[in-house]
Amino acid sequence: MQTQERRQAIIVLDFGSQYSRLITRRVRELRVYSELVPATTTLAQLQEQPHLDIRGFILSGGPASVYDEQAPLCDPAILTSGLPVLGICYGMQLLAHQLGGHVAPGSGRREYGPATLETLADAALDELLFRIFEGIGATPAQTNPLDQPRTHNPLRIPVWMSHGDSVDQLPPGFSVLASTESNPVTVIANAQGMVGLQFHPEVSHTPQGKDILRNFLYRICLCNPTWTPASVIDEAVERIRQRVGSKERVICGLSGGVDSAVAALLVHRAVGDQLTCVFVDTGCMRAGEREQVVDTFARHLHIPLVVVDARQRFLAKLAGVSDPEQKRKIIGAEFIRVFEEEASRLEEQGGPITFLAQGTLYPDVIESTSHDTAATATRIKTHHNVGGLPEDMNLQLVEPLRMLFKDEVRELGLALGLPEEWVWRHPFPGPGLAIRIIGPVDEQKLETLRAADAIVIEEIRRAGIYRELGQAFAVLTPLQSVGVMGDLRTYSNVVAVRAVTTGDFMTADWARLSPELLARISHRIVNEVPGVNRVVYDITSKPPATIEWE
Ligand code: XMP
Repeated sequence: MQTQERRQAIIVLDFGSQYSRLITRRVRELRVYSELVPATTTLAQLQEQPHLDIRGFILSGGPASVYDEQAPLCDPAILTSGLPVLGICYGMQLLAHQLGGHVAPGSGRREYGPATLETLADAALDELLFRIFEGIGATPAQTNPLDQPRTHNPLRIPVWMSHGDSVDQLPPGFSVLASTESNPVTVIANAQGMVGLQFHPEVSHTPQGKDILRNFLYRICLCNPTWTPASVIDEAVERIRQRVGSKERVICGLSGGVDSAVAALLVHRAVGDQLTCVFVDTGCMRAGEREQVVDTFARHLHIPLVVVDARQRFLAKLAGVSDPEQKRKIIGAEFIRVFEEEASRLEEQGGPITFLAQGTLYPDVIESTSHDTAATATRIKTHHNVGGLPEDMNLQLVEPLRMLFKDEVRELGLALGLPEEWVWRHPFPGPGLAIRIIGPVDEQKLETLRAADAIVIEEIRRAGIYRELGQAFAVLTPLQSVGVMGDLRTYSNVVAVRAVTTGDFMTADWARLSPELLARISHRIVNEVPGVNRVVYDITSKPPATIEWE
């Protein structure tokens, strides 16, 4: 068996900033592997991880002040390890505080928002210290080595600030490289490659922030760009092969989303037909969904696929149920039952199945191991991960996407041959159309909603804005209203159209669709979908509403 290769890595210590995850993503976008770990993680714990070749650390920002009684500190061994450390905001204050400098309390006032950073006149003379700004804002002529001696004009760049305290005494060996009008010590560095930034380089409001991070990775930590889709695929495939071996069977539930699709593709590349995919048609799928799964997986990608037609079972269980949480529970439980039955059937036919492949992503992993408030947040909706793990199935898990962000999964999907349309699909809730039919669900309503929903998606794609939207769909309301069609009075249902823009689905804004597009959608739904005589557009953001109606 091959031993695991070590990967160049930057470790981000999470001191609780809302941007900690973003820092990790930015580093990976720069093609260097990065992991987010709790602030209390020690150097010794990290050194025990056989897959990490640690090249540097980033201390994130955070809400604490170094003066708080419970202020989280960084393991001193990290600061004396000789490895480069980038402290951002609170992270910079920790560098000062823990290395013998001083932080001035902010006396309750915070500096929040844009500022202009200016490098100090003589800072650029020390090239070792100035590596963090190298090449930034300079014209190509200035970065050409033939142009020596270089001019050292002060660099002025916009940055994003968000802090209360600030450093007022440097630790020994550090110099100030830059300041802003209200904050004299905005950037500090020492020759060992420790850098403190009072601003946030990870946010888009600091336009050169990515270049600054790039300098930290490539000029200070001396990393190479090794985190590429090709290398991620190779490593994942190798790891799955080692885990599964050449005989054991793997089962994977396809949900129709990108995560389970990419997980299945990786497993298939690793162990071929030892994998069987299962798609459960709950009857609550969108128009053409089942055909699309069969077409893409069985025909196009040649992956062994079993489709279970469980429509009648789900419909029977859902009959007369109008409470949304009840619908979710019923669908979640029934899904597991169907999946288990199918697994037993496959075992009877082809021998034991040992592994279950799942598309768990890094944000889910971080959520369940970090100290953030997600675990204690009030439960608004039970998000059953339908298509997920039947817990008592005695199967071992294969989760090839465990260390990946969604963007990375999409990149991998494209590299593995998943059609682009699939890769960029909007998320679709596990309970499907059942939570987009307000009130009890039946076959007739499902048919009506499927037809209306297909029109919404078709027109949005035709308008070329599908990718700009986070989600778009139709909702079938139980509300009936009077209308007139031809010379006849109608009394039919109201369909609501929902389209949102969002980054993380935690907050969302209603999309400003053009009146022309809305008119086309409305016109087509009323004319083409029997039983609907009125269309309304949902203009509520999240919060206070949620994205789904149930
Ligand atoms: P809300 O409606 O809470 O939705 O703003 C946020 C995101 O979660 C999806 N969602 C679900 N996904 N099972 C799922 O797998 C569910 O029960 C469920 N409910 C909502 C929703 O589509 C949106 O992307």
